[in-house]
Amino acid sequence: MPPIWVALKRSIPSSFVLFAALLPTWCAALLTLACTPLRASTEPGASRPGVVEDNRAAVENGPWMNAELSSAERVRAVLAEMSVEEKLRLLMGYYGADAAWKGYTAPAEARPGSAGYVPGIARLGIPRQWQTDAGMGVATQGSAAVKRERTALPSGLAMAASWDPSVAEAGGRMIGEEAHASGFNVMLAGSVNLQRDPHCGRNFEYAGEDPYLAGVMAGAQIAGIQSQHVISTLKHYAVNAQETDRNAGDSILDPGAARMSDLLAFELALERGRPGAVMCAYNKLNGTYACENAWLLTQVLRKDWGFSGYVLSDWGAVHSSAKAANAGLEQASGFPFDDRPYFGTLLRQAVESGEVSRARLDEMAGRVLFAMFENGLFEHPPKIRAIDFEKNGALSQHAAEQGIVLLKNEEQILPLAQSVKTVAMIGGYADRGVLSGGGSSQVYPRGKNAVPDLQPSSWPGPVMYFPSSPLIELRRAAPHTQITFDPGTKQQDAVALAKRSDVAIVFVTQWTTETLDVPVVLPDDQDDLIRAVAAANPKTIVVLETGGPVLMPWAKEVGAIVQAWYPGTQGGRAIARVLSGAANPSGRLPFTIPLRRVDWRHPDLPKAGKVHYEEGATVGYKWFDQQQLTPRFEFGSGLSYTTFAYAELALKPLERTLEVTFSVENTGENAGQAVAQIYVAGKGWEAPQRLAAFAKVALEAGEKKLVSLRVDPRLLAIWNEKSGGWKIAPGSYEVRLGSSSRRVHQRGTIELEGASWSARSH
Ligand code: BGC
Repeated sequence: MPPIWVALKRSIPSSFVLFAALLPTWCAALLTLACTPLRASTEPGASRPGVVEDNRAAVENGPWMNAELSSAERVRAVLAEMSVEEKLRLLMGYYGADAAWKGYTAPAEARPGSAGYVPGIARLGIPRQWQTDAGMGVATQGSAAVKRERTALPSGLAMAASWDPSVAEAGGRMIGEEAHASGFNVMLAGSVNLQRDPHCGRNFEYAGEDPYLAGVMAGAQIAGIQSQHVISTLKHYAVNAQETDRNAGDSILDPGAARMSDLLAFELALERGRPGAVMCAYNKLNGTYACENAWLLTQVLRKDWGFSGYVLSDWGAVHSSAKAANAGLEQASGFPFDDRPYFGTLLRQAVESGEVSRARLDEMAGRVLFAMFENGLFEHPPKIRAIDFEKNGALSQHAAEQGIVLLKNEEQILPLAQSVKTVAMIGGYADRGVLSGGGSSQVYPRGKNAVPDLQPSSWPGPVMYFPSSPLIELRRAAPHTQITFDPGTKQQDAVALAKRSDVAIVFVTQWTTETLDVPVVLPDDQDDLIRAVAAANPKTIVVLETGGPVLMPWAKEVGAIVQAWYPGTQGGRAIARVLSGAANPSGRLPFTIPLRRVDWRHPDLPKAGKVHYEEGATVGYKWFDQQQLTPRFEFGSGLSYTTFAYAELALKPLERTLEVTFSVENTGENAGQAVAQIYVAGKGWEAPQRLAAFAKVALEAGEKKLVSLRVDPRLLAIWNEKSGGWKIAPGSYEVRLGSSSRRVHQRGTIELEGASWSARSH
């Protein structure tokens, strides 16, 4: 482990380290500038807990407290009462955990060990903003002695692999409720960065390589969170596709291509989830930092997409005051992660000098307030209260079962048959628990870290295994089978056990985390372990707990492959239920797994500096299709314990879109879920085909359903950056009804009329 992790606790730019070293000198010179915010109290009168609530009587006659009025009216009314200082106060957030390396103590009013805190204005009844990470559940930050123990959903990628927006929405509702019950009203969720690079250490937080799938799933999660009176973010805006050099790297991507790929994922999530906030990313996009990129924050987000909430920065992503404010940033987060208090004293000076206009200041405060009104933050303050962990754990388990992907199942080795008397379970700490991903999104589970002694033990760790043991759960699910565990650390022991067992199940893991990119191969010789076990017992099943895709050079040698992701709080039970057949797997891959590393568009570990995404919008399977590369497991693939037949494809052209109707029938013996996928092929596109629609369909054995889907017009169109609009070319399009991007069951062609429209009127 590089020693720097220990010292820094969080990923911070090197200029930050310098800043820390110079701190005493700066304190003398810039006392009011940089040092004041390092003290805990940020709010006049804030030392009295509950001051905002106490003040209700005094403010209740203010028209902005009237929930009958529209949010815009309420914003106007309250802004008219606010001083410049008060407006500024809403625009600067503080880290909610101590940061010893900066000599920083979190504000007393912050929730201990949390991501952030923004003071309220007691005089006007404006609530404080208590911010928590993140997309899998309520996290704990920093070295807080007491960790919040909460329910963790499976990873973002696992949720995307469910291909079921209702699963994502229910998950969002659950973590939003836990956030609210933990005293938070802002959740830093909604991670939707497109998987361009398989090495990205945060791929587990995201939603895969397709903009439509990612946007739909992230949007559903956001809607769920916000139903609980908790503002959700949508992040990290945009093209934050690697962790290497994450604070300074420059993503070079053609703006038009971005609109049809990464930005399309954001646009769709924004429309579906209506997040109160968007978090701008650390990286630069085409030479300009995301948090001061006027094209991203103003042209695209506000003018083209009509976003009415506020933009908050990632923690330490701000590099200027006036430039950032005028480009479209409203709130600087997590001081002291930025090297200076850009949105503190420095922004006040910029307002006083006129560099930032009063109108812009009003807009900035107004947007924060708008999101607070829209999401009921005034009427429904978060309350620390009991959480139903039983219920929430069951929900997380259900989500895990929906996202687990059965990639291979030769001779129906799975589900484990009654005739299987002995099972060798090997490796992956499967006797103790299931892996989770590292960094700011880390949720601490109830009960202890099941494998507490792994490195790194502090930021971006700890490496955390949730105490849901696949071994214990499989013993419970298959009581008549004798299951013996071997840790897999001595290959010959594992092989010997596999040899004398009917079936061998090898658990393999790869820990991935924020701040670090990873090779796309299993670490610690796990490939060798699989090969050795498979050589000893052809009935070998591999269960992968990985953050993203890994190469599977042993795929032909094993009987079955189960991609189980980071499966969340009750992941062990979910895996056991899939292995035993109590749950029928229905997840589908949200990315491509190639045969060879070189087949990936980005086959090597990311580099620092400028990163040229020359593939433009040809991301993921689109690249494999265009290059005519055969993947090992294609985008959208996954098996079931039953079989489905797809038929009766009918196409109907509509204005700027088309309606696709088809039937799906369960032709097997078990109830199960099909994931019907519609791909469209058009001329002059960035790729031979695009995912245009999908539906997860639950069917009893023998049942048949008719499904009707409409294609989003943007998935039939090409974006023209010059004219700032979408265009569907008139002509014929091929529509494919598939069960993956390569398994096509029926094809049809349709003539579409041409159409064009501007960004805002699709
Ligand atoms: C991460 C964000 C997170 C924030 C607050 C940053 O390091 O990039 O995703 O929300 O920290 O913890």
